[in-house]
Amino acid sequence: MDHFQLRGGELYAEDVPLRAIADAVGTPVYVYSRATLERHARVFREALEGLGRVHLAFAVKANPNLAVLKVLARQGYGADIVSGGEMVRALAAGMRAEDIVFSGVGKTPVELAQGLDAGIGQFNLEHEEEGHVLSALAAARGQRVSATLRVNPDVDAGTHEKISTGKADNKFGVPIDQAPAMYARLAALPGLRMRGVACHIGSQLSNVDPLEAAYVKIGRLITELRSTGQAVDRADLGGGLGVRYRPEDPAPWPTDLGAMVARVTKGWDVELMFEPGRVIAGNAGVLLTKVIWVKPGVTHPYVIVDAAMNDLARPALYGAYHHFEAVRPSGERMKAHIAGPVCETGDTFAMGREIDAVKSGDLAIFRTAGAYGATMASTYNSRPLVPEVMVDGDRFAVVADRISAETVMNAERVPDWLQN
Ligand code: LLP
Repeated sequence: MDHFQLRGGELYAEDVPLRAIADAVGTPVYVYSRATLERHARVFREALEGLGRVHLAFAVKANPNLAVLKVLARQGYGADIVSGGEMVRALAAGMRAEDIVFSGVGKTPVELAQGLDAGIGQFNLEHEEEGHVLSALAAARGQRVSATLRVNPDVDAGTHEKISTGKADNKFGVPIDQAPAMYARLAALPGLRMRGVACHIGSQLSNVDPLEAAYVKIGRLITELRSTGQAVDRADLGGGLGVRYRPEDPAPWPTDLGAMVARVTKGWDVELMFEPGRVIAGNAGVLLTKVIWVKPGVTHPYVIVDAAMNDLARPALYGAYHHFEAVRPSGERMKAHIAGPVCETGDTFAMGREIDAVKSGDLAIFRTAGAYGATMASTYNSRPLVPEVMVDGDRFAVVADRISAETVMNAERVPDWLQN
């Protein structure tokens, strides 16, 4: 459930008409609902109640906006980070260093050292050499740092190939059959305290079966590790729960995950860790845009909106669907293509879709844009970086400025030898 609903014929974010945000901030603009974020954070947490010790780490990559992280920090969430930049944000938002998990297949030695200096709670190792480097850095600081080994369970997540991470040939984790010997070698290093294993098989999963297949393998691995005398007291089960992009999409509920995890992890006797991203933030945000033109086309008209692939990359990157709705729907419908102003055919949000009838100047939204939306934006075509707004009841605030093309340009330099 979200708080972007029609009231008296126009779309609101909580108690704020989206029109008022467009008037004040301009378009395109991302709009987040604090109440929706809080609701999703609560529902996810409640779905896992009864599992014993549970640690929740919001996947910062899904939405790293400081205000968003602040809302989640207040809901008791830590962070799952994959870069030094995400670490800075999570700490700035008030997340405790010990509640932060450092994931990522390409953590640099500099980032590992930054994480140690900040007191990050857990490092999820992606391969053995990384463990040796982390151990040396930690030992040099007189530290013994908590770590898990990320395993690749070779399970097909059944999602888009670009966001699947758990097949044997994907770049993530270590092959599960090599994990026991590697774990033992890592556990013997002076700077590491090996706590357990981690896995994440992909994102936007439409049901929990692939997760179950992966967790069953993790359970067997934990038993094997313990049988060889290794200590295991944590299992990081990653993120991946899908959300509804189309109203009719199948989407697992957090309670489906909770019930499955309760069944599969019975007797594991570990702290369970989760790294949800999309399920928390996805439907807590929309991209508000304005129709620039409705241009006649050969099969259908082109609705040209002022948002583009640089603002919301998912359709161009993954062929992803984002539901389009007029802010003041007339009740009329039309069949149209929806595209942005960027000079690429890939800058197309939909082809031949039945949508609310719109005309030049109308406001509209793309739904389910709160995760992997603004964070993946760029300034391609020298467009400004899209701003972000958070709504809280009847008030709203700009939580990220629109960065103008001039500001971006001002970070560039023309060398002396090109001056004349
Ligand atoms: N943990 C790890 C180690 C991850 O790699 C990810 C996402 C998550 C947690 C959070 O997954 P979630 O709960 O959000 O599914 N840009 C793509 C999604 C990339 C996901 C990358 N990893 C998209 O727009 O669909």
